[in-house]
Amino acid sequence: MSLDQVADGLAVSFDLNGTRVTLAAPPAERLSEALRERAGARDVKVGCNAGDCGACTVLVDGLPVCSCTTAVAQVEGRRVETQAGLAQSDPDGQALVAAFQRHQAAQCGICTPGMMVSAVALLREVADPSEQQVQDALGGVLCRCTGYRKIIDAVRDAKGSATVAPGGVGTAMARVDGLPKVTGAEAFGDDVAPAGALTLRVIRSPHHRAAFTFGDLEAWRAETGLDLVLTAADVPGVNLFGVIPGFEDQPVMAEGEARFRGEAVAAVVGTPERLAGLDLAEFPVTWTPLPHALTPEEGLTAALLHEARAGNIMCRGLVQRGDAEAALAGAAHVVEGDFSTGFIEHGYIEPEAGFAERVGDRIEVHCCTQAPYMNRDAVAKVMGLAPEGVRIVPTAVGGGFGSKLDLTTQPFLALAAWKLGRPVRMAFTRAESISSSTKRHPSQVTMRLGVDAEGRLAGADFFGTFNTGAYASWGPTVANRVPIHASGPYRIADYRARSVAVHTNCTPAGAFRGFGVPQSAVAQEQLLDMAAEALGLDKLEIRRRNALVNGDATVTGQVFETGMGILDCLDALKPHWDRALAEAAAFNAEATGPVRRGVGVASGWYGCGNTSMSNPSTIRAGITADGRILLHQGAVDIGQGSNTVISQIFATALGVPVERIERVSADTDLTPDAGKTSASRQTFITGNAARLCGEALRAQILRLGNVSGAAVIDIAPGAIRLTDGGAERVVPLSGEGYALEATESYDPPTKPMDANGQGDPYAVFGTTAQMAELEVDTALGTVNLLKITAAHDVGRAINPLLVEGQVEGGVAQGIGLALMEEFLPGRTENLHDYLMPTIGDVPPVDTLIIESGDMHGPYGAKGLGEHCLIPTAPAILNAIADASGARIHHLPATPATVRAAILATRA
Ligand code: FES
Ligand code: FES
Repeated sequence: MSLDQVADGLAVSFDLNGTRVTLAAPPAERLSEALRERAGARDVKVGCNAGDCGACTVLVDGLPVCSCTTAVAQVEGRRVETQAGLAQSDPDGQALVAAFQRHQAAQCGICTPGMMVSAVALLREVADPSEQQVQDALGGVLCRCTGYRKIIDAVRDAKGSATVAPGGVGTAMARVDGLPKVTGAEAFGDDVAPAGALTLRVIRSPHHRAAFTFGDLEAWRAETGLDLVLTAADVPGVNLFGVIPGFEDQPVMAEGEARFRGEAVAAVVGTPERLAGLDLAEFPVTWTPLPHALTPEEGLTAALLHEARAGNIMCRGLVQRGDAEAALAGAAHVVEGDFSTGFIEHGYIEPEAGFAERVGDRIEVHCCTQAPYMNRDAVAKVMGLAPEGVRIVPTAVGGGFGSKLDLTTQPFLALAAWKLGRPVRMAFTRAESISSSTKRHPSQVTMRLGVDAEGRLAGADFFGTFNTGAYASWGPTVANRVPIHASGPYRIADYRARSVAVHTNCTPAGAFRGFGVPQSAVAQEQLLDMAAEALGLDKLEIRRRNALVNGDATVTGQVFETGMGILDCLDALKPHWDRALAEAAAFNAEATGPVRRGVGVASGWYGCGNTSMSNPSTIRAGITADGRILLHQGAVDIGQGSNTVISQIFATALGVPVERIERVSADTDLTPDAGKTSASRQTFITGNAARLCGEALRAQILRLGNVSGAAVIDIAPGAIRLTDGGAERVVPLSGEGYALEATESYDPPTKPMDANGQGDPYAVFGTTAQMAELEVDTALGTVNLLKITAAHDVGRAINPLLVEGQVEGGVAQGIGLALMEEFLPGRTENLHDYLMPTIGDVPPVDTLIIESGDMHGPYGAKGLGEHCLIPTAPAILNAIADASGARIHHLPATPATVRAAILATRA
């Protein structure tokens, strides 16, 4: 730092976590930028750069501020505190570190700095805050993972002294990877680039559909001083990617025509300083807007987006059993309706980010991803390399929920770093993240349900149309999964469900927690309530009467002998249901104003893993001569807890304390393929691989010691001591690398579906039933949630606290789906127009854990991630109808929508 810079106002001095720093920053630079890039304070996170998410919160002279909307010059001479400093030396910060760990208040951890910093400011003022005070103090920080309840618990319990002991299967231990998240040490996609890396920005289409031509790119590059301009012509391999074999249809950069607003057409690379001063609107591209289609109706008659897909129909799905039409014709009552949902944005707080570098003849990409091996293979195709020529190193992932399965930053980074031979980094802006990433499919469902006089389902006919956007992504999965699940977890002998996915000029719709099942449940579970109303039946009881039990055939003809736990879930709700109905009736009897109370229930089910497809996971583990136990665990933990669950399963199988396990994290060079983190498959499938691996290693040890399976294992430097009853044995450990090691795989037993969708698509289904209690202001249409009670059959809870965290996070996303969220291309591309639940929007969630066991799951455990939000929205909608008499057919149920529906009942 020169004196001239200080004199010219190009340097700012302030106290950062107790140390005086002077930064050579322009005065108007964002404080977040200066802290991260000049002071190395990467514990300050950036989620939006617009004051909407609160991830960047720091304390300035003790007050919480968004550092992304604060100019660095504003902190001249002042005191700035960040999460890392507070966690290290502030008493309240240290107390929160312990409490967040104890309560598992950090899932992915990207919001945790903002949450903890805000909480420190509160605790300095109020030693024992109320729930309302915590909600007020943390109200500016968004979290997409936790549902906020564990965060509230942690802040209110910051002064508590309870400890959580580690343990194997069944123990509610703290996350094995939790500490970096709560101390500010965690490194996400934008935190890992080496100093001096060049920066990459993408040029995207501002039109839903447009032809385009480039000007003189080389002249513009030279004039602007950039290092590189990339277009489709620079792709050495195949300029297409996708996630489903046969559906690789998306170009890295479009050629001649952009098919959706936000589609990439070029990329530019330069120093951060050059790019900061560049107006990308000056990029030499000429656009010619073309007619576009945004809805399936428009898509069916629009110009083809892909030549081979007639009528813009990407694919169809079908499950057919018995004779639905005849059954409906003979039913005592038939209810029917049309229901629709919009695009839903994943809303992870960490935008897509990473860096790449060329290492010899290989390219290494460090990025936030849910699917390292799929990314590796896709990048290799784009680069024209063998898969071994690409290494994917996942960073910590600040939320994914399905969208970070697809390629985002990876091909751009790989292309640029390969060409330049220098490290290149990029982070999506919030606007480009929202405009270009995949979304939950909008749905239009028409369904008929027939019941007999006792309320038993006599037949069902479902037809769902899904807007799959411009490219396939996971659309085929949605189209196939929905017809299987659209029955709900009920017995229906005569059933037909059809689905169709239609291309439009919208951002591609892809995987989002549930793969279409939450949308179908909105229709099916509301119709079940309408059937109950027609018969005068209790709404919990109609579900009990129809619930699948072990030995029943599902709508695909699959019969489960164990693990069909929906009746247990409904029975667990029964006392809560009776209490809530009585309370609502008493409230409404006394009500004189427009507010009415309602109670709603809905069920859900979800098959864990891929549909009728092989989807194996492999786990490797080894023991070194000095007694270390290393677990090569390639299942990416995106906040859901797979690092912890899989460690607990492996430790239990091997028979050692979980704290002895050292984890080798996901890296395509270091860990075998544990598949993608999606479809609620990691606990079940990778968990089984971990169990098999632990058992195999244990069997080796027992064999070498010539002792029985009951022996106690003590692994120490140089030797393993075995105690078997009174006898003791020693197995020596020696040599380089692993003295003992094992690698095991697990692939769930599924069977292909026939032309009518009959077969065994999943080895395991998880089931759930949730209940919503709420109040509706029938004059304004506003909904006030009071409580969610969520019963989940998880087979076996490997870590009960993680189960609660998953449920609460899923419920929060279900609340968003029901009441407030809808992505509109070109209109809600930021976090102030796209509304997601805040800490004040999620009521208390009572999680009821059912452990029915499962013949395939590791120690009986099933997956859980997707299940948690499937019944939430229909339970809320059923409660709105109970309170107001108004049935909501199009989500979200905003106050205007609810009010209009109420007025329609009075017309
Ligand atoms: Fe500052 Fe989102 S990054 S509020
Ligand atoms: Fe809050 Fe992931 S833990 S956003």
